[in-house]
Amino acid sequence: MPLDISIRTDTVPAVHTPLLVLQHFEDDRQPTGAAAAVDEALNGLLSRLMSRGDFRGKAEETLVLYPGQADVAAERVLLVGIGKRESYAMQGLRKAVGTAVRQAERMRVSEMAVALGHVERTSEHMGAYFAARGAVEGAALAAWDYRDLKTSPGEDDEPVVRLQSLMLVASNQREADEMQPGVEVGQAVAAGENLARELAAKPANLATPSHLADVAREIARDGDMEITVLDRAAMEKEGLRGILSVAAGTEEEPCFIVLRYHGGEEGDQPLALVGKGVTFDTGGISLKPPEKMEEMKYDMAGAAAVLGAMHAVARLRPAINLVALVPCTENLPSGRATKPGDVVTMYSGKTVEVINTDAEGRMILADALAYARRFQPQAMIDAATLTGSVVIALGHEAIGLMGNDGGLIDQVRAVGERTGERCWPLPLWDPYRKQLDSEVADLKNVGGRPAGSITAGWFLKEFVGDIPWVHLDIAGTAYRDEPASYLRKGPTGVPTRLFIEWIRERASR
Ligand code: BES
Ligand code: MN
Ligand code: ZN
Repeated sequence: MPLDISIRTDTVPAVHTPLLVLQHFEDDRQPTGAAAAVDEALNGLLSRLMSRGDFRGKAEETLVLYPGQADVAAERVLLVGIGKRESYAMQGLRKAVGTAVRQAERMRVSEMAVALGHVERTSEHMGAYFAARGAVEGAALAAWDYRDLKTSPGEDDEPVVRLQSLMLVASNQREADEMQPGVEVGQAVAAGENLARELAAKPANLATPSHLADVAREIARDGDMEITVLDRAAMEKEGLRGILSVAAGTEEEPCFIVLRYHGGEEGDQPLALVGKGVTFDTGGISLKPPEKMEEMKYDMAGAAAVLGAMHAVARLRPAINLVALVPCTENLPSGRATKPGDVVTMYSGKTVEVINTDAEGRMILADALAYARRFQPQAMIDAATLTGSVVIALGHEAIGLMGNDGGLIDQVRAVGERTGERCWPLPLWDPYRKQLDSEVADLKNVGGRPAGSITAGWFLKEFVGDIPWVHLDIAGTAYRDEPASYLRKGPTGVPTRLFIEWIRERASR
């Protein structure tokens, strides 16, 4: 159920709500903005606890108060720390509001109000529009949960409570008017990202290639997009043998989804989004060890983010042309599976010696990237849970970014900073290429252990030609073991927001 969101113009102490959320900057010894108004109504209660340093306002620090006083209509007041004033931006607000949602869950409250109008405008990114957007994204992302497969509605004998409605409090009508479009964009972004998380969370027996195709068809219908889904036979006709070589071992029908959105002028070159859609990666004949293999249901997180972004596009209708390419298959061993040493003639015509069938993502992406050329994209980005190596290099904090165009790399990095999906560059220098040299074919599909993410990126680069392109290795960021502010354990939705923001930045409106 999508979060119900309203904007209300009022003085903050007068707002009737079970939970009123106030933000506080680190090391301010005085309440400011909305908190100052509440403090006054509470005869200096907030000033007293802040001046003593009992609440510091460190990022994600919280304190609940129970005013019990007629001058403050809220049942509970929740102070949330938002860290230092200088570094406050939309991501800080997403985290603060996400943290507040977790507190609401703990207190079994399903409605909350966030004072936004009175937050000082501390950075160029913040203003009523961005404040509303950040708050809505933080709340809607935090409220998301995947419980479809649980037959009991609760835990510990009590039904779970999830946030159902969010009120944004503006200080005047002009601010409320600025907030409205922020709410709309924030809702569309969160809906797209939550779709991506739902698809990734679904087990591989449900989130099959055919299921992803069904979801893509729905998006196409809602967004007046054109869709083609190539099945195994159609891919054979097209010569998409990189995808088919991975699909050789599975009984589950693979597919290649091509989704086209025409929001720009006819004839304008589109942007292309490509997502790795391995719905389950066993490694194939180069079988993975059983430990944590269940996590390989997330190996379609790149595909999920592309579909999530297109879902948001269907709502936001940016003025630009787009093409989304999503190759989907399982990677399974069987009597028909591709074997180490087999040579595959790819869609582009290049030959690949398959040294390791567990390096399957690059095989399907290489075909999708080469196929994208027929749409003559002005630029393209792919997202893939491609290498365990990127987890060693960057852990769970940064997306590994590679590409063939400095301007595009800078643009994507800047977008990632804004959306809180940070990317860090790895070099695709020429000397790395020789690690892919093969005795029998044009290249091998693995380059050994050193620089594993880079040689994977180099492999892709062999298939993109001269189109400006960025590759995002999301193996470390697509899912997590621990909850954090607006995220739960499990899929993160990365890089759905980055995709949407990039599209909006490149669109003429
Ligand atoms: N899907 C995996 C990469 C992965 C690893 C994603 C850990 C998420 C968490 C990919 O298909 C893979 O198996 N890569 C191999 C490549 C190797 C055989 C060159 C890897 O990283 O070990
Ligand atoms: Mn693999
Ligand atoms: Zn994989």
